[in-house]
Amino acid sequence: MAIIYHEKSGEFHLTNGHISYVMNILANKQIGNLYFGRAITDQDDFGHLLEGGLKALAAYVFEDDYQLSLQYTKQEYPAYGATDFRYPAVEIKQENGSRITHFQYQGHQVFQGKKKLPGLPATYVENDTEAETLEITLYDEVIDAELILSYTIFSHLPVITRHVLFRNRGTSTWNITRALSACMDLPDPEFEMLHLAGAWSRERHVKIRKLEQGVQGIYSLRGASSAEHNPFLALKRPGTDEFSGEVYGFSLVYSGNFLAQVEVDTHDATRVLLGIHPDQFEWPLAPGEVFQTPEAVLVHSNQGLNGMSQTFHQLFRTRLARGQWRDRERPILINNWEATSFDFDEAKILQLAGRARELGVELFVLDDGWFGARNHDRAGLGDWVDNTQKLPGGIRGLAAKIEAMGMKFGLWFEPEMVNKDSDLYRMHPDWILHTPERAASPSRNQFVLDFSRKEVVDYIYTSMSKVLREAAISYVKWDMNRYITECYSLGLSAGEQGKVFHQYILGVYDLYERLTSEFPHILFESCSSGGARFDPGILYYAPQTWTSDDTDAMERLKIQYGTSMLYPLSSMGAHVSEVPNQQVGRVTPLETRANVAYFGAFGYELDLNLLTAEEAEVVAEQIKLAKRHRRLIHQGLFYRLKSPFQGQATAWMVVDKAMNEALVGYYQVLNGVNEGWKRLKLMGLQPDTLYQVNGNPGRLHYGDELMYAGLVIKKNELCANGADFSSTLFHLQRVEA
Ligand code: GLA
Repeated sequence: MAIIYHEKSGEFHLTNGHISYVMNILANKQIGNLYFGRAITDQDDFGHLLEGGLKALAAYVFEDDYQLSLQYTKQEYPAYGATDFRYPAVEIKQENGSRITHFQYQGHQVFQGKKKLPGLPATYVENDTEAETLEITLYDEVIDAELILSYTIFSHLPVITRHVLFRNRGTSTWNITRALSACMDLPDPEFEMLHLAGAWSRERHVKIRKLEQGVQGIYSLRGASSAEHNPFLALKRPGTDEFSGEVYGFSLVYSGNFLAQVEVDTHDATRVLLGIHPDQFEWPLAPGEVFQTPEAVLVHSNQGLNGMSQTFHQLFRTRLARGQWRDRERPILINNWEATSFDFDEAKILQLAGRARELGVELFVLDDGWFGARNHDRAGLGDWVDNTQKLPGGIRGLAAKIEAMGMKFGLWFEPEMVNKDSDLYRMHPDWILHTPERAASPSRNQFVLDFSRKEVVDYIYTSMSKVLREAAISYVKWDMNRYITECYSLGLSAGEQGKVFHQYILGVYDLYERLTSEFPHILFESCSSGGARFDPGILYYAPQTWTSDDTDAMERLKIQYGTSMLYPLSSMGAHVSEVPNQQVGRVTPLETRANVAYFGAFGYELDLNLLTAEEAEVVAEQIKLAKRHRRLIHQGLFYRLKSPFQGQATAWMVVDKAMNEALVGYYQVLNGVNEGWKRLKLMGLQPDTLYQVNGNPGRLHYGDELMYAGLVIKKNELCANGADFSSTLFHLQRVEA
């Protein structure tokens, strides 16, 4: 791995044998991009890749330099207006009203390792040899503004991470109106854009479209990364599939409003922009102050979408997620929400927990409804004190009883929210985000606390940490069940209202940081009406996220498949729930519900007391299986084999690093009649290793056969004899030939 600087040509080459990222100092001292892709041999001068000369007679030239028109130039951090007409990465509104800037190269430094981003989540190294960082300093002399463009290359992964620091070195305040985290100008438009779109209960479905001249993109202006779009997009070549071909992945380590945009210009250059959404954003920067953008993660794969995903999984699982729970086996949990909703008392909870314990569950999670006057969703949010009517001994008493049963105890919070019918709101009506003199729009009868204000975050920290300190709590589910409307903070001046959305998210991160450092033994699972804030920002604090409120196995195939584009299986909360399913009314076999949920952080979300004796036996076996294989599932290499977005069959698998063991999930949506034979080609096995399938001594196949000829799928091997919604697992274990 190396970051090479060629002084004569003014070029930087970041390379690690997998990828190369080449930039240069342009004639006007801005930074240009020459190449990003598969590793190429270093040369002193790649200047011929600039392609910046003039195309048309009437071209606009930069300050009389007839060799430089920024509209034709691939740039690293472009500004609008000085001959580039495309959407820019940076914009600053100055005292005189101008928004034109000219940031020129001043110097750079290279160092081993990677710095932390103060107040923001980011990927990290455990050892300085894992990565190298380049910081390029740019300066605009008219407004005394400094930019530091930061690039980290990881030694063993095809990954570049980027972020930008703004510093006001002058004497007057100016307003940052656009501060994206990354711009990537690629030299051609032969791509399809892949992204993850959806809504509540159908999050992260895979969408693919061809790029065309003009602007295409996704965004959130909802105050959260959202269920509608994920802060991620990929550009893949039209021929790229799951296992071959080139693809670039762009992910933003952030949980608030974002923009991910691709612009194809008239000369076939493709500009990718990624960062905090510039709409609703305006950040005044006073003399001496700095502004730090979130981090963008750029991945290159020449092994198709699976190659890209495996890189993201490895990076996010081991160098973005943190804490004691990062590498530990996750507990099999039962959550009471779908079983009881708000309608429970201590006896009912203990009954649920007792049955769960008998069947092998390790963690009981008490969901919404345990606090204040929370007997329905119209009251109590914000009051993080025991509801002693429901739980006479409070959380402390209940947690002790659950622990005495031999189980761990977990608890639900929704820290950022308040009902108007709550003591907190009655005490501090000005603590919600709302625009003075205008109505505030409720959603699920709740309002958003103004986390851009430190005193609000402090208050919630104090009340939550008291509960966590006083009771034996091993897990927290941190929910967030509505987006932000009428965004306005009474804690900020008129000129600072453009800060609210971002400062809100910084408040969320601050509370997460304080709680996770004070309670490092607690496993945090994030949630946002299911997966409306399933993003890399939150993953830094909470190593798992409730993937979706939709627990139907068939719907989950699509949701988990899409989520796996960049998020590791260890991060996806996945539970077996009752049938008919509460979201779609579908009846799927108990086996299938588990066969889908195994490929996540596994648990149950139903009343186990209602199971028949036969079903209870099945569940006990499922829990044993989940325990046996959770390390393989969470830490192995994951391969998507068959897409739920095409046809009736879905398949995926995980293989351990040593290729000794694998687990394959095969799922059928609708059964067909008199169909052809089916084979499933596996991936990632050792070709000359003999594998035994499902412990059957008569079923031995070499890895090459399983990958190249395929595994024969017999209908009668699927549960329910291959009827609608059936499925099966194949466990492969290496044996000596
Ligand atoms: C959200 C969550 C659910 C549950 C409820 C409780 O919808 O996604 O899992 O916690 O809130 O109100």
